Amino acid sequence: MSDPQTPLLVRVARKHTEALDICSLDLVAEPGHTLPAFSAGAHIDVALPNGLVRQYSLCNPPGETGRYQIAVLRDAASRGGSQAVHDAVTEGSTLRISAPKNHFPLATEASHHLLLAGGIGITPLLAMAERLTSQGECFELHHCTRSRERTPFVSRIAASPFARHVHHHHDDGDAGQRLDLAGTLARAPQGTHLYVCGPTGFMDAVLAAGRAAGWSEERLHREYFAAAPVDHANDGSFELEIASSGRVIPVRADQSALAALLAAGLDIPMSCEQGVCGTCLTGVKAGTPDHRDQYLTPEERAANNQFLPCCSRASSPRLVLDL
Ligand code: FES
Repeated sequence: MSDPQTPLLVRVARKHTEALDICSLDLVAEPGHTLPAFSAGAHIDVALPNGLVRQYSLCNPPGETGRYQIAVLRDAASRGGSQAVHDAVTEGSTLRISAPKNHFPLATEASHHLLLAGGIGITPLLAMAERLTSQGECFELHHCTRSRERTPFVSRIAASPFARHVHHHHDDGDAGQRLDLAGTLARAPQGTHLYVCGPTGFMDAVLAAGRAAGWSEERLHREYFAAAPVDHANDGSFELEIASSGRVIPVRADQSALAALLAAGLDIPMSCEQGVCGTCLTGVKAGTPDHRDQYLTPEERAANNQFLPCCSRASSPRLVLDL
């Protein structure tokens, strides 16, 4: 079995335009490497030619063993990851990727699954639709996009055995085809679990509607891939204490807690550096974190016993870390 920490070398076997500004990549293992099996909702870290590491959900059927498929939106407002995929990665390119990780698994206890996708957020939900279909489970998938030409995987879905469970909603379409979120939540059978992935505003709206309708956090599943902009104007300095040694590390106002820990020689695993992947999760034994991530649930944040040092800070003068 491959070590999940060891990078896998893959080759882009196919690059395909799925919709306006969206391309998919089929990744196959280079000689000497094998692709571990993955579950629906999993993602991989991809090291891009410009040095950035980005997370992309696997969107091919989870039972496939010979390839991983990802899809990427060209985002002019991004920090360069999506442009690198569109402009610098071609068929035949080799890339280093991580083994699949899954922070967004299907809930085995759910009696029905409500999949809500915004734009490119369809990718993990497509793998879920494939898995649920193969398991004979009940689900419906709603895909909200700006327009038909910006909607990826239309023909794949139309040709799939689950086509009748998928509803498309376009911002530029008539009012009758828009997603009726409150009605969809109200109609969901008892025991339904909701899964949402897409732009931050879309996800926040869906989660707020779910909470307002009385859905418990255990039934609300989400996968963020891009952090909302954070205002750093009022950032202050604070201290980190390493519980095992008592060592105190100052964090300057213009530096992240993760940067301070790394500069002090601590080995903290990291990936996205924007509070969405959970890789840098660190235990907190005392003090109060100022949570700025999109990874922890409201309950996990309220417990204040862990934080994500790549983006979160402290609202107390010192945090004692379980390191
Ligand atoms: S590195 Fe991704 S959450 Fe911190």
